[in-house]
Amino acid sequence: MTATTTSVHPAPPEGVAALEVDALRFDYPDGTPSLQGLSLRVEPGEKVALIGPNGAGKSTLLLNLNGILRGQSGAVRVFGETLSDATVRSIRGRVGLLFSNPDDQLFSPTVYEDVAYGPLHMGLPLDEVRERTQDALAAVGMEAFADRPPHRLSLGQKKRVAIATVLSMGTPLLALDEPSANLDPLARRELIALLDRLPLTILVATHDLAMVADLLPRSVLLDGGEVVADRPSAEVLNDGPLLAAHGLEPLSAHGHPHA
Ligand SMILES: Nc1ncnc2c1ncn2[C@@H]1O[C@H](COP(=O)(O)OP(=O)(O)OP(=O)(O)O)[C@@H](O)[C@H]1O
Ligand SMILES: [Mg+2]
Repeated sequence: MTATTTSVHPAPPEGVAALEVDALRFDYPDGTPSLQGLSLRVEPGEKVALIGPNGAGKSTLLLNLNGILRGQSGAVRVFGETLSDATVRSIRGRVGLLFSNPDDQLFSPTVYEDVAYGPLHMGLPLDEVRERTQDALAAVGMEAFADRPPHRLSLGQKKRVAIATVLSMGTPLLALDEPSANLDPLARRELIALLDRLPLTILVATHDLAMVADLLPRSVLLDGGEVVADRPSAEVLNDGPLLAAHGLEPLSAHGHPHA
């Protein structure tokens, strides 16, 4: 995995946040308000959970981080660089975004080409593209499927390949939407171990609160497009009334042994 952790960008200066979201407002074109002046700061190397009920704004926030969606007001800064038309390309080289639906991520004729796409389009030398692609496929246990068309995979296999397409980019910030959804227990366990090992800044939108407990020390709870809590995960996950007020359940309600 060493190759996938290197960034094409130089290290940011001391004191610069990995991510700053400043009073971000986003309404969908049909008028649905989604983010209501949301602010969030994430330091380099932090691993942060974004939790909250369906429709809270988690996916919308992640899509705003690399300019796929652009807020009507407010700002997004990634390692000190403010998202704009002029910086969107550069910012996409810093934020690896995993879509919640892997079909939105996979478009090439083969698994290999999908995973190689990012590094290839970053203009990296071919041997580095090959190394990153192989490392990323190995990290998700999909080397044997390199020549398969992505649409002929199971949902969980697609999810693994989609994760590999993000890892191969080598971005310093990973924004992952439901990365553990549809993974079998072993693949889920391996994903958690992998994300735990990566010395990157990681933001994970998820309903998998057991993964939050195991991997992500800080939890940002969203509801109605706003941050309603931002505290250590151990506190948030044990705050039954807070969770219940926002459509969530403590881990014990899932029968999880970590409760
Ligand atoms: N394409 C869209 N057009 C209009 N409204 C949308 C669209 N996508 C999402 N929304 C609305 O934006 C709000 C935030 O949705 P979002 O998908 O960000 O929620 P989420 O927290 O990711 O939920 P989930 O847990 O279901 O993934 C919701 O009110 C949702 O209905
Ligand atoms: Mg979502």
